[in-house]
Amino acid sequence: MIIAVTNTKGGVGKTTTSVNLATGLAARNLRTLIVDLDPQGHATRCFLTEPPDRDVTDLIMEKPSQAERSILPTDYESLDIVAATDRLTETAELLQTRIRREERLSKALGHVVDEYGYIVVDCPPVLGVLSYNALVAADTLLIPVQPGVGAIAGLDQLLETAAELRDEEVEDLSYRILTTMFEIRTTRTNAMVEDLLGRHRTRLLRSIISKSESLNQANLAGKPAVAFAASSRGAQEYDLLCEEIGRLRS
Ligand SMILES: Nc1ncnc2c1ncn2[C@@H]1O[C@H](COP(=O)(O)OP(=O)(O)OP(=O)(O)O)[C@@H](O)[C@H]1O
Ligand SMILES: [Mg+2]
Repeated sequence: MIIAVTNTKGGVGKTTTSVNLATGLAARNLRTLIVDLDPQGHATRCFLTEPPDRDVTDLIMEKPSQAERSILPTDYESLDIVAATDRLTETAELLQTRIRREERLSKALGHVVDEYGYIVVDCPPVLGVLSYNALVAADTLLIPVQPGVGAIAGLDQLLETAAELRDEEVEDLSYRILTTMFEIRTTRTNAMVEDLLGRHRTRLLRSIISKSESLNQANLAGKPAVAFAASSRGAQEYDLLCEEIGRLRS
């Protein structure tokens, strides 16, 4: 199952969610691949200390049958990565002249998808050709939303773009919304989140990720929350998310 973690809004917890979801699924003995599709490379930094020899640019630009060559192991059992480096910015430009440029990631992952229980794609906060590739490749979109003013700005455009790329209707898209950086002080109840989401409320996951200093500290340390502080609230909330995502499948 390929999950694209995406939202055109920046800083809503896409990378934190990708990293912790991928680590948590792998910890459940489900072979998992995390694909870093953001030139910022924040997810990559959590798993690799040295610049990688091969990265997601190779995955996208080479023949799909070569996909396996761009996959690197991590220190976590059952977790592999396709890393991002700053080459990726240029890759997005180079893709503009290629035919079927939105389908390249999908084709490449098609060659390795059977080897993994889950593939988690961390998207950049830009609705450009890289995100288009993720939207085409994904079985499900996981959209982190931080409650507050303008929380769902851009959501309709994201979904319309995904539907157009996939030749589907928006209502038929498989997408789920994850509340991130939830603050009981300002949002008070989950009912308020539902109000905020309007017609998208039916897609809201039950799991909620609270705003927590431990998650922020884990990110600063470049580590998944489970590795940084396994008993922290953040780690536990992401563990519940993994469980819920696992149930989506059955
Ligand atoms: N639940 C949380 N509680 C507290 N801080 C968080 C939480 N989730 C993420 N953060 C912090 O918020 C910032 C943005 O998070 P993150 O990088 O995951 O967002 P993003 O959507 O991937 O951002 P970008 O759009 O730049 O890719 C980071 O500094 C991170 O440490
Ligand atoms: Mg990010």
